[in-house]
Amino acid sequence: MAALALLLQLPTPTPMPNVLPTQVVIFGASGDLTGRKLVPSLFSAFTGGHFPSQMQLVGVARRPWDHAAFRGHLAEAVGKSAQHPRWGEFLSGVQYVRTNLETEEDYRALAVGLDAVAPGPCNRVYYLAVKSDLFLPAVNGLHAAGLLTQAPGGPRRRVVVEKPFGNDLASATSLNRSLLQILGEDQLYRIDHYLGKETVQNLLVFRFRNALFEPLWNQKYVEQVQITVGEAIGMENGRGGFYDTAGAARDILQNHLLQVLALFAMEPPSSLNAKDIRDEKVKVLRALRDFEDLDPRKHIVRGQYEGYRSEAGVDPKSETETWIAARTFIDNWRWGGVPFLLRTGKHMPARFTSVTVQFRMPPHTLFGAHDESGLGPNRITIRIQPRDGIDIDFEVKEPGQGLVIRPAKLDFDYAERFHQPAPDAYERLLIDVVNGDQALFIRSDEIEQSWRWTDSLRTKMTATPLYLYARNSWGPFAAEDLFGNAEGRWAEAPA
Ligand code: BG6
Repeated sequence: MAALALLLQLPTPTPMPNVLPTQVVIFGASGDLTGRKLVPSLFSAFTGGHFPSQMQLVGVARRPWDHAAFRGHLAEAVGKSAQHPRWGEFLSGVQYVRTNLETEEDYRALAVGLDAVAPGPCNRVYYLAVKSDLFLPAVNGLHAAGLLTQAPGGPRRRVVVEKPFGNDLASATSLNRSLLQILGEDQLYRIDHYLGKETVQNLLVFRFRNALFEPLWNQKYVEQVQITVGEAIGMENGRGGFYDTAGAARDILQNHLLQVLALFAMEPPSSLNAKDIRDEKVKVLRALRDFEDLDPRKHIVRGQYEGYRSEAGVDPKSETETWIAARTFIDNWRWGGVPFLLRTGKHMPARFTSVTVQFRMPPHTLFGAHDESGLGPNRITIRIQPRDGIDIDFEVKEPGQGLVIRPAKLDFDYAERFHQPAPDAYERLLIDVVNGDQALFIRSDEIEQSWRWTDSLRTKMTATPLYLYARNSWGPFAAEDLFGNAEGRWAEAPA
């Protein structure tokens, strides 16, 4: 039991450099992310006693609110969290600073406002829950007002940026360059909320704490790997306008899906510290083959769901993909020649994210070929959401005379095993920022490598048809062709 409890806490946060209180300053405090994710996560961390020291939340936005009005807004925005007996206690410490964040004067006023509500010397986390074109102006403004200055051994100043971080390699590189002129890489936390999901972190534990699986994790035994990030939703909450400028490749593949791929495929890091983990992840991203010399029709399938062009905010002639699948390779010793089939889309029949590892057939056939018997190769499926868990598919002898082989499954379910809901991804990530642990955040070279690959995919995909697919379907039928001559079919959502 003790060992299992330990596993769930990995990777362990590095110790705080100091134990000053932390002021978490949220830019975009009146926005959707703040009410739906950030504040409930901070509240949950507060009730769970997960912050190493005192934490103060300060909302920053343009609305002409005072502290009370902001607290009232949060009480409505956070839903059921507001019914918790300790909500009042949490809320009473929440502060609000109104500012336009446009001129240097606004930032100087912000500095005065933050000092006025600060509980004394404190570390500061600036969470930029704002549109991505405001990341750089906000950091410039903070810098000009002296709000990012750190003295050695003094209070820490950290900045968290949401996605999208750039919209191609050129813009991401330029944003990195500009931000890193002001901030150290150790001050910059690029969020990918998938890294805060328990099952994504469990990829490390599953691979590197079990002698059972890791020896099989290579081209000698693995025939192919599939990763799906399927979504049942479409353009809810007025997202059409933003999504139409992004598309599935930029919205999910470049970030969430490649991060899962990197954790799945990386070499064992020498420790769980941020540098060692991120060094190994970036090697995988660097080894991802681009599409330059590949026939796009054999490697990319894209689709758009029926009715997408009539969604609010979407161009009626839009060519944006709401579904994409790619067949790619990691050109290194471990994975050489193994196809990685990646798929994501909106309006699929179910929300499910999973990684399926399909193993090669045994080298010598004693029991008849699997295609004759109707039985398949062994598979391990890591279910990331919903119903987090792991399935192992293998084959057994049916009891009785003769030799009849039947499929069997071992399945592990987080909820059944641990009887407790997993914390929200944002809670874990916010705690890590406060603790100064960057292991679950994306480093500048990771961002750039993932854009390199995504740009190459996006350039080549224009040479492929944009298939229409029905809502509530698994996407274009052409996606089956990505298996080429190999055995395989796309994974199905768990029942
Ligand atoms: C976001 C995308 O990053 O992730 C959304 O912009 C998507 O389009 C969301 O719906 C999916 O997150 P989750 O945690 O619901 O799988």
